[in-house]
Amino acid sequence: KKVVLAYSGGLDTSVIVPWLKNNYDGCEVICFTADLGQNEELTGLEDKAIASGASKIYIRDLREEFLQDYVFPTMQAGAVYEREYLLGTSFARPLIAKHMVEIAEAEGADAIAHGCTGKGNDQVRFELTVMALNPKLQTIAPWREWDIRSREDALAYAAEFNVPVSQTEKDIYSRDRNIFHLSHEGGLLEDPWNEPEDRMFQLTNSPEEAPDEPEYVEIGFENGVPVSVNGETLGAVDIFEKLNALAGKHAIGRVDIVENRLVGMKSRGVYETPAGTLIHRAHQVLESICLDKYTMQYKDTIATKYAELVYNGMWFTKLRESLDAFVQVTQESVTGTVRLKLYKGNIIVAGRKSPYSLYREDYASFGEEDVYNQQDAQGFIQLFGLPMKVDALLSIDGTGE
Ligand code: ARG
Ligand code: SIN
Repeated sequence: KKVVLAYSGGLDTSVIVPWLKNNYDGCEVICFTADLGQNEELTGLEDKAIASGASKIYIRDLREEFLQDYVFPTMQAGAVYEREYLLGTSFARPLIAKHMVEIAEAEGADAIAHGCTGKGNDQVRFELTVMALNPKLQTIAPWREWDIRSREDALAYAAEFNVPVSQTEKDIYSRDRNIFHLSHEGGLLEDPWNEPEDRMFQLTNSPEEAPDEPEYVEIGFENGVPVSVNGETLGAVDIFEKLNALAGKHAIGRVDIVENRLVGMKSRGVYETPAGTLIHRAHQVLESICLDKYTMQYKDTIATKYAELVYNGMWFTKLRESLDAFVQVTQESVTGTVRLKLYKGNIIVAGRKSPYSLYREDYASFGEEDVYNQQDAQGFIQLFGLPMKVDALLSIDGTGE
């Protein structure tokens, strides 16, 4: 038996390596780590996986694929879960699971394993993806089977089977980091009355620490995708690295919410999404001039559905693909530049322009005009208000019987 394990190098997934061998008759464990921009967490991973008992480890740099195929379509859709969460963990899971399926097929493995608990969303996202892409693969979720119940239990198991444990793994928060965001759950945050401690944050300054001078930034878009910063054309990874640093410096991108998990419970989460927050805002501003009224309003109604699909792990579905097809057509004219002023946690819109702008100064102007005939408004209002008028007449004049 061979198992491909989603491996982060953290305490839990490290302990899973010997646990799988002990509980699935000495199976071979192949680790897989996606490099999604978690940086320092990746150093020493190979040695650690082998020392924990894995036969080999695949590490793939998926940052570009993550941004192009998962982050950008979701941002073009304007998808936000429960008004605030930009889905930074949610859309990484189907990508990781897709690569695990590929590796399992290439290696002739029988199963996929992950370190998600039985109480969360991530288990669903991993497993739905496997079901959609290769339903013959078995999935193993040790957290739903073993009797490790605490950090202490996990540390004891690690000690017993010579799994190396580093200092950082003693941290109380449950975190997930990639180039798009950093999530924090657990620890102090489990009481929603507790304010997050300053030292928890890693990608963003607090407003108090942010510079006293505002800073301007111009983000250029082509078909709804960011392609330049301050006039300089950059690749997706560079755009995110640059804007993460800039927005983080100005305290932009923190969100503190209580969200509804797919598995029913409410859960407290704090997210840092510096570049994502800027790009989301800039994209919205650009759409306000590039999209016609009807397309924009309809698009907003499907954004909620899109977010729900992403959050619930339903990436590889016909419905998501169909919504994407709609969104892609709407983005054909979302090309232009947005200028933002960043100041102590605020994003202040300073300008927007597009060759496809539908905004017409001559129509909107309060000054002299010759394209819009104000007399047309009189008849329009009479007909537009007719249902209200008839309803009101009924209550004044009675039914007429
Ligand atoms: N609550 C967020 C979500 O469901 C973040 C999950 C973070 N996952 C983790 N393994 N730390 O998308
Ligand atoms: C977990 O429970 O494994 C992490 C949180 C989540 O999946 O929602």
